[in-house]
Amino acid sequence: MNRRMWIAALAAALVPLVARAEVDKKSERTWKAKCASCHGVDGKGKTDQAQKMKIADYTDAAWQKAHSDADIKKAISEGVKREKDGVKQEMDAFKDSLSAEQIDQLVAYIRSLK
Ligand code: HEC
Repeated sequence: MNRRMWIAALAAALVPLVARAEVDKKSERTWKAKCASCHGVDGKGKTDQAQKMKIADYTDAAWQKAHSDADIKKAISEGVKREKDGVKQEMDAFKDSLSAEQIDQLVAYIRSLK
């Protein structure tokens, strides 16, 4: 390959990387704005809200293993309303305030917490 081809190949390899980093930044911003108040910026569920509602630590390998992408997506889209050990666990549905794409990005973001 000549020099020009090398540069073209390198650029082609880097563009998706840069695009990915953009997506990660965006989902991180969405997480901080809409989710971190309950789940914590780090996703560990150590906020006051989280303690009150017994929110799980999503960086935990066992939690990651027990939840499929579909479970996570459904929870974000449709919200959560259940009781655990006598504690009400409630989370709003986000399907009206986030696009399907944003929700998919949040699933990937939660996966990156482990
Ligand atoms: C009002 C507080 C609150 C906010 C804000 C909130 N959640 Fe939750 N979320 C909860 C509670 C409570 C649970 C249930 C306890 C648990 O599973 O840890 C939960 C559960 C979840 C689950 C696990 C569902 C399951 O099947 O176990 C995921 C994934 C999740 N939230 C993602 C998000 C994302 C992404 C956002 C932001 C778009 C968000 N949450 C915003 C309170 C909240």
